[in-house]
Amino acid sequence: MSSQAAGPVIAIDGPAGSGKSTLSRALCERLGLERLDTGAMYRAVAWAALDRGIDPCDEAAVGALAESLRLGVGDRVTVDGLDVTGAIRGPEVNRTVSLVAANPRVRRAMVERQRRWVAERRRGVVVEGRDIGSVVLPGADVKVYLTAASDERARRRPEEDAADLSRRDHIDRTRSVSPLGVADGAHVVDTTGRSVDEIAEEVVGWL
Ligand code: CDP
Repeated sequence: MSSQAAGPVIAIDGPAGSGKSTLSRALCERLGLERLDTGAMYRAVAWAALDRGIDPCDEAAVGALAESLRLGVGDRVTVDGLDVTGAIRGPEVNRTVSLVAANPRVRRAMVERQRRWVAERRRGVVVEGRDIGSVVLPGADVKVYLTAASDERARRRPEEDAADLSRRDHIDRTRSVSPLGVADGAHVVDTTGRSVDEIAEEVVGWL
C-alpha cells in the first residue's frame, strides 16, 4: 500500500482502550500525517441502524444500510450530513457496534471506503482499527498492535460499562470475518504504564 501514498502508511490495531487513538494522534502531530479512525465508521453504521429501528442482527438490512450511507469521518463524524460525533460514543452504540462489525457485508463496504480514503492521500496516513494491518492495508510501512492490561483498559474507558467492553472485545476476537489479532509483521506494544511520547518515538524509529 505504500505505493498508494507518497508518505508513510502506518497501521495501528488493538482492543478497546489499548491506546490506539492517543498514539495515532501523537504520530499524526509529529509526522504531519492524516488519521483515519475506522472504529468511528463501524460506530456510525451501528448508530444509523439504531436510529432507523433496524435490527442490528438483520445482516441483509444492515448490510444494505452500510452500503448506502454517506459517511464523513474527520474531526467530526457525520451520517448523511448529520453530526453524530457524540452520539456514536453512547451506550447503545457500545452495545451493538461489534454485532454490526461482524457482518461481512458491512465490513466489505467499510474496507472499500477505507482503502479509497488512503489512496486519495499523498501525505501519508495513520489508520487505526482492528483489521488494518491484516486486511485493510497488509502492505503498510509499519504495523503496530497495541495491548494493555485489562484493568488498565477498563480504567481508560470510565464511560463504558466494563462488562460491555469485555463483551465487545470477545465478539471482535472470535468473529469469523477479520477477527482482531496480531497481523503478520506487526510490532506488539504493551502500553500499560507507558507514556505516549515514548511509544510514538519507538514507532517513528521503526519507520
Ligand atoms: O475506541 P475503541 O477501541 O473502544 O473502539 P473503536 O475503535 O471505536 O471500534 C468500535 C468497534 O468497531 C470495535 O469494537 C469493533 O467491533 C469495530 N471495529 C472493527 O470491527 N474493525 C475496525 N477496523 C475498527 C473497529
